[in-house]
Amino acid sequence: MAAANVLDVVSAPPARTRPAGPCLMVIFGATGDLTSRKLVPALYNLLRAGLLSDRFAILGASRDSYSDEAFRAMVRQRLTLFATGAVDDEKLQWLLERIFYVGGSFDDPALYTRVADRLAALDQQFQTRGNYFFYFATAPTFFAEITRRLGQSGLLTQADGSWRRVIIEKPFGSDLASARSLNTEIKKVLEENQIYRIDHYLGKETVQNMLAFRFGNGIFEPVWNRRYVQHVQITVAETVGVERRGGYFEHAGTLRDMVPNHMMQLVSLTCMEPPISFSANAVRDEQAKVVHAIQPMKAEDVLSRAVRGQYGDGIIDSQGVTAYRQEPGVAPDSRTETFVALKLFIDNWRWASVPFYLRTGKRMAERHTEIAIQFRRAPFVLFRDTPVEKLHPNYLVIHIAPDEGISLHFSAKIPGPQMRLGGVDMRFNYADYFGTAPNTGYEILLYDCMVGDQTLFQRADMVEAGWSVVDPVLDLWTALPPRDFPNYPAGSWGPHASDELLRRDGAQWRVGGA
Ligand code: BG6
Repeated sequence: MAAANVLDVVSAPPARTRPAGPCLMVIFGATGDLTSRKLVPALYNLLRAGLLSDRFAILGASRDSYSDEAFRAMVRQRLTLFATGAVDDEKLQWLLERIFYVGGSFDDPALYTRVADRLAALDQQFQTRGNYFFYFATAPTFFAEITRRLGQSGLLTQADGSWRRVIIEKPFGSDLASARSLNTEIKKVLEENQIYRIDHYLGKETVQNMLAFRFGNGIFEPVWNRRYVQHVQITVAETVGVERRGGYFEHAGTLRDMVPNHMMQLVSLTCMEPPISFSANAVRDEQAKVVHAIQPMKAEDVLSRAVRGQYGDGIIDSQGVTAYRQEPGVAPDSRTETFVALKLFIDNWRWASVPFYLRTGKRMAERHTEIAIQFRRAPFVLFRDTPVEKLHPNYLVIHIAPDEGISLHFSAKIPGPQMRLGGVDMRFNYADYFGTAPNTGYEILLYDCMVGDQTLFQRADMVEAGWSVVDPVLDLWTALPPRDFPNYPAGSWGPHASDELLRRDGAQWRVGGA
């Protein structure tokens, strides 16, 4: 669709138009991948957009020993690699002058004394009013430890109008029990309103647009329910393998890595009731209700409604790629899944008995993330006496990656003397309308933490509800190890059983379905 005018711009809260207030950011895991690939480029983008306060500075912390200067040199070099656009030298200089470093082991109390001393000095220097937020970009094993030690050093105490917050990366726990115990542990020293559990899917514009699309338009809501929706498909397909994360992935697997967090965000935004306001808790209440309403799977349900897969070698983009078991850090007889498909039901009035098919995997044929709502067919085939035997289903598709937008698929008459129907598309493309600037997805999330808006962060109940959904699958899969791995070639759409899951119900994956 050609670029068109955006007729009205209605600002729904939060309007991210003013610089955040004064604050200091501490990054634990400052020399790691996440910091270089996402956090620093996101901070740079915030700076470029005029959304950082003049009174802002960053203190990096990690085990490596660096001087401030050496750390800045590393940040500069990596930003050139990972920035989402051209880097302006003056702006970069501004940022680098505000970057500091402290080294030490996360379990060493002396590190926290050094952090506290540096923060006190930086707070003076940059006039940040004692406002600090701590980003845990570390291995998950450190989340509880760092929180506890920050608490012991008094760094989480909000006094004299200052605020203290922590951003915790995923994975938040590795099952329901560990997520609960991590919540209990961190809540010993933090209030829920100081805890920002990140899920970078909520930083994606298209994902946030779900709220705008559903609740800013009157025409979709009346059909957004079991009367009109036949089923929903959510696909998060990646072409990448496990890259350098074999060690992590061996313990996590795709089910833990993607389902309780990212996939549950997509399910909850698709299915939630309209919130009573856009306040953080009103939105999150409705999201959490959806995940709580997902029908718990019994062992026999897992056997019939959950599919796992692991990629063998294959071809992606005309390049040969190796099997998961040959990836660095992966056991040669690994039983870890790199693909999951599930069929879920949501037991509430709006969605009862509507199947939700979820699939996600690595090394698949294309990078493709979408939510497809398939509507029920017309009540009967009026075109019985014409060449049209079957009507195409209507789909509404929310495209999340690589294209961002929304499309509606319906049937139209193919021009000519006969009544022949063909499937056509009406399509809105984000880039055409809004000319979106490339971003990391972390910009909004960092900004929201600085301004104290928790809407796009996961509350404890949501995280635990997500784990409750996958726990029965984890249990059964652990008890019954797979015998057929690898069971899909890299560059395919996953194991046959994933197609079968839908075929049994007379359905088919919209993309790549057999
Ligand atoms: C991360 C997972 O949370 O999300 C990765 O740990 C996955 O394994 C990534 O590749 C997918 O994110 P995106 O934004 O590329 O869809």
